[in-house]
Amino acid sequence: MTIIVTGGAGFIGSNFIFYMLEKHPDYRIVCLDKLTYAGNLTTLASVMDHPQFRFVKADICDRAAVQQLFEEEHPDMVVNFAAESHVDRSIEDPEVFLRTNIMGTATLMDACRTYGIQRYHQVSTDEVYGDLPLDRPDLFFTEETPIHTSSPYSASKASADLLVLAYHRTYGLPVTISRCSNNYGPYHFPEKLIPLMIANALHDKPLPVYGEGKNVRDWLYVEDHCKAIDLILHHGRAGEVYNVGGHNEKQNIEIVRLICKELGKPENLITYVGDRKGHDMRYAIDPTKIHEELGWLPETKFEDGIKKTIRWYLDHQEWWETIISGEYHNYYEKMYGNR
Ligand code: NAD
Ligand code: TYD
Repeated sequence: MTIIVTGGAGFIGSNFIFYMLEKHPDYRIVCLDKLTYAGNLTTLASVMDHPQFRFVKADICDRAAVQQLFEEEHPDMVVNFAAESHVDRSIEDPEVFLRTNIMGTATLMDACRTYGIQRYHQVSTDEVYGDLPLDRPDLFFTEETPIHTSSPYSASKASADLLVLAYHRTYGLPVTISRCSNNYGPYHFPEKLIPLMIANALHDKPLPVYGEGKNVRDWLYVEDHCKAIDLILHHGRAGEVYNVGGHNEKQNIEIVRLICKELGKPENLITYVGDRKGHDMRYAIDPTKIHEELGWLPETKFEDGIKKTIRWYLDHQEWWETIISGEYHNYYEKMYGNR
């Protein structure tokens, strides 16, 4: 079995590669990644010499490069993690989101059509459903919830999902889609809430909470997401969407307070800043389908997962300090300088 994993130098893709190399030692894993600001080759350092692993630097929108890789590797499956993934960046500059997230998905699926594939899996997000009101805790996203996006990021991911389903219906491409809630864990890029707050707290810098900090996200430990994708690849039904989430809703402010507590930092570092435009209030996944069909349940409790994650950031300071001192430094100044 040869699997092309796109975006494998990013947060979830790298965790998926580690998981698959260990779980399926006979599989060949080929990572295709453009190494944008979010992709980091040092993340994959521990597997670069693994006999079952190959890294290829390429853009998923580059048809020639993608086709060449298919000719060389004859993949059985493709798992597409490659994307522009940060909502705030999509609000600043949507174009690259449309290019990578939509056109890149089409380019990969066209290669799958040309060369044949057992499974094309699209890693999507619960953000395609828009948001839920805070005063309706009884409501959850199911796979039947209408697509209703808020940000250029979520609109680009939703567009890709529609294309994936269209390629299934029109060309019979054996596709699956997973729509997951917010992940956390090792190698999470320090522009996202949890790693940003850990990094800032360790530097005794202000902790910028958007709006009133009451927005709710449904947090899932990244390894549980990887397990879900592995199950869907092997046992999920072609043409189907599977929601993946942890029934673990937290307000942003609760998370930031918890990080302060775990790191022994004062809560007066918390600074309320201007809200995100179009800020989604609440995400909450109903994972009944993947539980009943594939037996998936989240295994890591948030209380354990967040401790493991904080420990990881303490033990891997060089990894994130290097990122913070690079291009990301300019981004931070631009986004938070006048907020
Ligand atoms: P990330 O930003 O950490 O990593 C994205 C990776 O894709 C990087 O390695 C980057 O170099 C690569 N990439 C970007 N553009 C590319 C291109 N044109 N060609 C090839 N490679 C390219 O993202 P992540 O958080 O790991 O998310 C992975 C996927 O999971 C995304 O599709 C995202 O929409 C989805 N998702 C993420 C979350 C979350 O909480 N992070 C939740 C649900 C779904
Ligand atoms: P983020 O990690 O960007 O994920 P997403 O927007 O995809 O859910 O943000 C998670 C939540 O944290 C979101 O409600 C926005 C909020 N947030 C802050 O309050 N401050 C920050 O500096 C960041 C990056 C996010």
